Amino acid sequence: MKKIAVFVSGSGSNLQAIIDACESGYISKGKIEIVFSNKEDAYGLQRAKKHNIKTLFLSPDDFKTREEYDKVVATKMNELNIDLICLAGYMRILTPVFLDTFKGKIMNIHPALLPEFGGKGMYGIYVHKAVLKAGKKESGCTVHFVDYGTDTGPVILQRKVPVLDGDTPEILQKRVLEQEHLAYKEAIKLFTEDKLEIIQKKVKIKE
Ligand code: GRF
Repeated sequence: MKKIAVFVSGSGSNLQAIIDACESGYISKGKIEIVFSNKEDAYGLQRAKKHNIKTLFLSPDDFKTREEYDKVVATKMNELNIDLICLAGYMRILTPVFLDTFKGKIMNIHPALLPEFGGKGMYGIYVHKAVLKAGKKESGCTVHFVDYGTDTGPVILQRKVPVLDGDTPEILQKRVLEQEHLAYKEAIKLFTEDKLEIIQKKVKIKE
């Protein structure tokens, strides 16, 4: 059984989808060991508690640097023998100290079809505003491994949605979010079944 840590800063609807997938048996070789947050009031922490999942909150204000914060978080994750870290609306960029500890074991979900609409400032509703402004006919979501860049890591899988006439950023966001919930659990299932391999920055899905 692979031990999963989910990192959240907000609502945690993706976390909920992962919890549900574990409880239903869709993800049968993984278990959420802990939900971690940098925000005390993240609703994701409540969701975890409702399902009797361990939670941890660490306030960034208690640390001098981001590296020191990340070092402590990495230590906590190591103590729990975490196999996979899933960022699900975790609004902090991880420092190399953390990334090096969990190389190839950190996933993120992004609400656009990377490599487009990723990077600095591309989060939340801004992503969908940018997609509409660019006149795109489709959008979607991407689950990827995390590397040193922002939203630049190897893509695991993507799910697409159409952009429709009359879409507002909020409507598009909702349509994409529904697909995120499907994509994330699928990627986690693949990881926990040892079906993902990173070969020269590309993810290969094994049969
Ligand atoms: C999602 O849109 C995800 O793609 C992005 O942050 C949002 C988190 O939503 N990284 P939720 O907290 O899972 O509802």
